[in-house]
Amino acid sequence: MEQKKFYITTPIYYPSDKLHIGHSYCTVAADTMARYKRLTGYDVMFLTGTDEHGQKIESKAKEAGLSPKEFLDRIVEGERGVLDLWKLMNISNDRFIRTTDDYHCEAVQKIFRKMYEKGDIYKGAYKGKYCTPCESFWTESQLVDGKCPDCGREVHDAEEEAYFFRLSKYADRVQHLLEDTDFLQPRTRVNEMVNNFIKPGLEDLCVSRTSFDWGIPVDFDPGHVVYVWVDALFNYPTALGFMNDRYNDYDKYWPADVHFVGKEIVRFHSIIWPAMLMSMEMPLPKHVYGHGWLVIDGGKMSKSKGNVVDPYALSEMFGVDALRFFLLRTFPFGTDGNFSNELLINTINTDLANKLGNLVSRTTGMAEKYFGGTLPTEREDEALDCELKTMACALRERYEEEMEKFQFQNGLEEIFKVVERANKYIDETTPWSLGKDESKRTRLATVLYNLLETIRICTTLLTPFMPDTCDKIFEKIGACEGCRTWEKANVWGSLRADATVCKGENLFPRIDSEKALADLEALQEAQKKAALPALEIESYVEEYVDFDTFLKSDFRAVKIKNCEAVKKSDKLLKFTLDDGSGTDRIILSGIHAYYEPEELIGKTAIAILNLPPRKMMGIPSCGMLISAVHKEKGEEKLHLMLIDDAVPAGAKLC
Ligand code: MSP
Repeated sequence: MEQKKFYITTPIYYPSDKLHIGHSYCTVAADTMARYKRLTGYDVMFLTGTDEHGQKIESKAKEAGLSPKEFLDRIVEGERGVLDLWKLMNISNDRFIRTTDDYHCEAVQKIFRKMYEKGDIYKGAYKGKYCTPCESFWTESQLVDGKCPDCGREVHDAEEEAYFFRLSKYADRVQHLLEDTDFLQPRTRVNEMVNNFIKPGLEDLCVSRTSFDWGIPVDFDPGHVVYVWVDALFNYPTALGFMNDRYNDYDKYWPADVHFVGKEIVRFHSIIWPAMLMSMEMPLPKHVYGHGWLVIDGGKMSKSKGNVVDPYALSEMFGVDALRFFLLRTFPFGTDGNFSNELLINTINTDLANKLGNLVSRTTGMAEKYFGGTLPTEREDEALDCELKTMACALRERYEEEMEKFQFQNGLEEIFKVVERANKYIDETTPWSLGKDESKRTRLATVLYNLLETIRICTTLLTPFMPDTCDKIFEKIGACEGCRTWEKANVWGSLRADATVCKGENLFPRIDSEKALADLEALQEAQKKAALPALEIESYVEEYVDFDTFLKSDFRAVKIKNCEAVKKSDKLLKFTLDDGSGTDRIILSGIHAYYEPEELIGKTAIAILNLPPRKMMGIPSCGMLISAVHKEKGEEKLHLMLIDDAVPAGAKLC
């Protein structure tokens, strides 16, 4: 019988935005799905990659003083780049596409030409509102409060000669696809697409640009580059070899079974993508699943907000499998999930340390303690065992039902119901008292075997979520390769009766949450700081000050005769100054955080003298010393303006 195929994709990522835990969310989900399908016997193709064209890359490379390709190579293949991150997260993709790969570029040119020759792409002029960061043109009516509806940033008027795709021609077919089939999931996303985008009227889509170069050139009109979204979406079939010779799997795997995408790019995947495939007369993907975002305090993670969560830091602290597990256990895949460090630690402690970890360590520990790790093969069943066995054997089917709907959280919930039941079984059967009674040895062996079997079944089904940990559990319970399979996941008694068990080290030591939270906060604070601009200066004052007003300001060189801290004030220093008038002048300045008084005595500074006197801590201050201020890594820095001592006291600055 021919093996069943499954083709799954993630979005291809913009590599210039440092990938964070939010990006990992979708990739971990897709990886789990791919592993699950492989487990159930499918021939899986799992694709991910990077989306490397567009104005944003062009300008970021320029800022970095590199060519776009050099810049991209660094952030895709370099240390802690995209490939490193997926390796860290144990992502088992079968293929990785970069849209700058030659085979892809050539295929996109052919695709563009084909749609042009068919009349579905035509030349026109584009006038619209353009959002540079999103590389999207918008119509006036699509803007939200005059800003980009995707990212909320400013848009600007743009006009250029451009090619258009006849999206309008496919509106009815796309509407039917969305409303009358299960193409777009979860179902809740359908209304949004139909009501917000299709019903108001689908306009033709601008699919070429002339305002920048970093894109795939339209080969029959070289001033134009292909719109990044057309380039990007076609990665899904070109990575299989569509219209290129690099790969040869198009017939085998296309159409995709599912594209996992974040909710903000559902529009591209559920309207523009099927319309272009219709134009190309290609089969449509079976499903697009629009998942929710991981948010922080209800808002999107973003580098500019300084709230991105670094997967490297989290996996170093808690382990990759714990992190993968957390992402899919805590949040329903279809809706937004509020990420917090507390939630992460809590989930690890509750589910992994207390429930799963405990079950494994208690069971293997007792097998070692009472039988030296190898159980005798005689059994003595009791009615009490039935419920556990039945539940464990029924688990595969319940789990499968959820996984087939991409409901990872529910799939895990089913597993944990069984884990909890097994822990309860330990309390009911009290193996430690059986262990005290020589005549109960057979019963004790039966109880432990039942627990090991339950662990084996749960572990088989947990493997797609936590591959490395599950391997370790299988080792601990002495499960041979043959009994780790999908086929054996509902067959009781598959583990050898005399399997050799080894407790080994604890899988999930309990996390001291107070300490871990403090460590994480310190780390995230440090990362936030590191992400701040090295140097920040005050924004410039737009308004002019008229010249006469400026001239009224009396700036003078002053000699610091004495300087002392003002009592009961942390900030204030009291300066006694020679301003050239023959009478001492007192000025107070809030700069004690930056200078010790002694280091300033004898120096020459600049002061403005004709400010109205002001009392501070009961002392009148007559003028102000001039300092320069800026920020370094978010920290306020101040330099008192000191000048050449050759300048006499009272010299006017002009
Ligand atoms: N390059 C396009 C996709 C082209 S696919 C043909 C793109 N790239 S992206 O890097 O900006 O985003 C990639 C994916 O990451 C999107 O699906 C997006 O929703 C997802 N996420 C980015 N931040 C996220 C969270 N905070 N939470 C969950 N997913 C998030 O869009």
